[in-house]
Amino acid sequence: MQLTRSGPIRITLIHGPNLNMLGVRDPDIYGKDDFATVNRKIEAHARTLGIDIRIQHSNCEGEIIGFIQDAMSWAEAIVINPGAYTHYSIAISDAIADSRLPTIEVHLSNIHSREDFRRHSVVSPVVTGQIVGFGTLSYLLALEASKNLILESHR
Ligand code: DQA
Repeated sequence: MQLTRSGPIRITLIHGPNLNMLGVRDPDIYGKDDFATVNRKIEAHARTLGIDIRIQHSNCEGEIIGFIQDAMSWAEAIVINPGAYTHYSIAISDAIADSRLPTIEVHLSNIHSREDFRRHSVVSPVVTGQIVGFGTLSYLLALEASKNLILESHR
Protein backbone atom coordinates (compact mmCIF):
# COMPACT_ATOMS: atom_id res chain seq x y z
CA MET A 1 0.00 0.00 0.00
CA GLN A 2 1.35 3.45 -0.97
CA LEU A 3 1.66 5.93 1.90
CA THR A 4 1.67 9.56 0.79
CA ARG A 5 2.71 12.81 2.36
CA SER A 6 4.69 15.75 0.99
CA GLY A 7 7.81 17.33 2.52
CA PRO A 8 10.28 15.91 5.01
CA ILE A 9 9.05 14.30 8.20
CA ARG A 10 10.10 16.28 11.29
CA ILE A 11 11.34 14.33 14.29
CA THR A 12 12.90 15.52 17.54
CA LEU A 13 15.24 12.95 19.09
CA ILE A 14 16.17 13.46 22.74
CA HIS A 15 19.03 11.83 24.60
CA GLY A 16 18.81 11.91 28.40
CA PRO A 17 21.47 11.87 31.10
CA ASN A 18 24.81 10.12 30.69
CA LEU A 19 24.17 9.16 27.08
CA ASN A 20 26.89 11.62 26.05
CA MET A 21 29.25 9.13 27.73
CA LEU A 22 28.46 6.33 25.27
CA GLY A 23 31.54 4.47 24.16
CA VAL A 24 33.15 5.02 27.56
CA ARG A 25 30.22 3.93 29.69
CA ASP A 26 29.73 0.15 30.12
CA PRO A 27 30.35 -0.82 26.46
CA ASP A 28 29.25 -4.38 27.27
CA ILE A 29 25.79 -3.02 28.07
CA TYR A 30 25.48 0.06 25.86
CA GLY A 31 27.73 -0.87 22.95
CA LYS A 32 31.02 0.42 21.60
CA ASP A 33 29.70 3.34 19.53
CA ASP A 34 30.55 6.67 21.10
CA PHE A 35 27.98 9.46 21.27
CA ALA A 36 29.18 11.18 18.09
CA THR A 37 29.05 7.89 16.17
CA VAL A 38 25.53 7.13 17.42
CA ASN A 39 24.39 10.57 16.29
CA ARG A 40 26.10 10.21 12.91
CA LYS A 41 24.30 6.91 12.35
CA ILE A 42 21.00 8.49 13.39
CA GLU A 43 21.53 11.43 11.01
CA ALA A 44 22.53 9.16 8.12
CA HIS A 45 19.50 6.91 8.64
CA ALA A 46 17.21 9.93 8.95
CA ARG A 47 18.48 11.17 5.58
CA THR A 48 17.71 7.86 3.88
CA LEU A 49 14.20 7.92 5.36
CA GLY A 50 13.51 11.54 4.33
CA ILE A 51 13.41 12.71 7.94
CA ASP A 52 14.43 16.18 9.07
CA ILE A 53 15.83 15.44 12.52
CA ARG A 54 16.74 17.59 15.52
CA ILE A 55 18.96 15.73 17.96
CA GLN A 56 19.13 17.12 21.48
CA HIS A 57 20.90 15.99 24.61
CA SER A 58 20.78 17.06 28.24
CA ASN A 59 21.82 15.68 31.58
CA CYS A 60 19.12 17.85 33.25
CA GLU A 61 15.46 16.98 33.72
CA GLY A 62 14.15 20.53 33.23
CA GLU A 63 16.05 20.96 29.99
CA ILE A 64 14.64 17.70 28.64
CA ILE A 65 11.15 18.95 29.48
CA GLY A 66 12.00 22.12 27.54
CA PHE A 67 13.03 20.02 24.51
CA ILE A 68 9.70 18.16 24.64
CA GLN A 69 7.76 21.42 24.87
CA ASP A 70 9.77 22.91 21.98
CA ALA A 71 9.02 19.81 19.89
CA MET A 72 5.31 20.70 20.11
CA SER A 73 5.79 23.65 17.74
CA TRP A 74 8.00 21.83 15.22
CA ALA A 75 8.08 18.05 15.37
CA GLU A 76 5.54 15.49 14.25
CA ALA A 77 6.95 12.83 16.57
CA ILE A 78 9.44 12.45 19.40
CA VAL A 79 12.03 9.72 19.88
CA ILE A 80 13.37 9.77 23.42
CA ASN A 81 15.84 7.84 25.51
CA PRO A 82 15.27 9.38 28.95
CA GLY A 83 18.19 7.44 30.48
CA ALA A 84 17.76 6.90 34.22
CA TYR A 85 14.88 9.43 34.28
CA THR A 86 12.89 6.66 32.61
CA HIS A 87 12.50 5.01 35.95
CA TYR A 88 11.26 7.91 38.06
CA SER A 89 10.63 11.20 36.26
CA ILE A 90 6.91 11.88 36.47
CA ALA A 91 7.72 15.36 35.16
CA ILE A 92 9.12 13.98 31.89
CA SER A 93 6.23 11.54 31.64
CA ASP A 94 3.77 14.46 32.09
CA ALA A 95 5.58 16.53 29.47
CA ILE A 96 5.34 13.69 26.94
CA ALA A 97 1.64 13.18 27.68
CA ASP A 98 0.97 16.94 27.44
CA SER A 99 2.77 17.18 24.08
CA ARG A 100 0.20 14.85 22.50
CA LEU A 101 2.89 13.92 19.98
CA PRO A 102 3.43 10.30 18.97
CA THR A 103 6.46 9.31 21.03
CA ILE A 104 8.78 6.33 20.85
CA GLU A 105 10.70 5.39 23.99
CA VAL A 106 14.13 3.98 23.18
CA HIS A 107 16.71 2.12 25.23
CA LEU A 108 20.01 0.76 24.04
CA SER A 109 19.88 -2.05 26.59
CA ASN A 110 17.00 -4.39 27.28
CA ILE A 111 15.79 -2.72 30.49
CA HIS A 112 13.43 -5.65 31.10
CA SER A 113 16.31 -8.06 31.57
CA ARG A 114 18.32 -5.86 33.93
CA GLU A 115 18.09 -4.80 37.61
CA ASP A 116 14.58 -4.61 39.10
CA PHE A 117 14.60 -0.81 39.26
CA ARG A 118 15.28 -0.61 35.51
CA ARG A 119 12.36 -2.87 34.61
CA HIS A 120 9.83 -0.19 35.44
CA SER A 121 9.38 2.79 33.13
CA VAL A 122 7.16 5.69 34.24
CA VAL A 123 7.29 6.89 30.64
CA SER A 124 5.90 3.75 29.00
CA PRO A 125 2.24 4.41 29.89
CA VAL A 126 2.26 7.66 27.88
CA VAL A 127 4.30 6.65 24.80
CA THR A 128 3.14 5.10 21.56
CA GLY A 129 5.69 2.30 21.77
CA GLN A 130 9.00 1.19 23.17
CA ILE A 131 12.11 -0.18 21.40
CA VAL A 132 14.75 -1.69 23.67
CA GLY A 133 17.81 -3.89 23.56
CA PHE A 134 19.27 -3.31 20.09
CA GLY A 135 22.03 -0.84 20.95
CA THR A 136 22.40 1.96 18.40
CA LEU A 137 19.95 0.12 16.15
CA SER A 138 17.18 0.86 18.70
CA TYR A 139 17.30 4.52 17.61
CA LEU A 140 17.28 3.63 13.91
CA LEU A 141 14.29 1.34 14.36
CA ALA A 142 12.56 4.12 16.28
CA LEU A 143 13.01 6.46 13.29
CA GLU A 144 11.33 3.89 11.05
CA ALA A 145 8.51 3.39 13.55
CA SER A 146 7.96 7.15 13.86
CA LYS A 147 7.95 7.64 10.10
CA ASN A 148 5.38 4.90 9.74
CA LEU A 149 3.19 6.39 12.48
CA ILE A 150 3.26 9.82 10.85
CA LEU A 151 2.53 8.48 7.37
CA GLU A 152 -0.31 6.33 8.70
CA SER A 153 -1.82 9.38 10.41
CA HIS A 154 -1.92 11.20 7.03
CA ARG A 155 -3.66 8.43 5.11
C1 DQA B 1 19.17 3.33 29.25
C2 DQA B 1 18.75 2.40 30.39
C3 DQA B 1 18.63 3.17 31.69
O1 DQA B 1 18.27 2.29 32.76
C4 DQA B 1 19.97 3.80 32.03
O2 DQA B 1 19.85 4.56 33.22
C5 DQA B 1 20.51 4.62 30.91
C6 DQA B 1 20.46 4.05 29.57
C7 DQA B 1 19.41 2.55 27.92
O3 DQA B 1 19.46 3.19 26.90
O4 DQA B 1 19.57 1.33 27.94
O5 DQA B 1 21.06 5.69 31.11
O6 DQA B 1 18.15 4.27 29.01
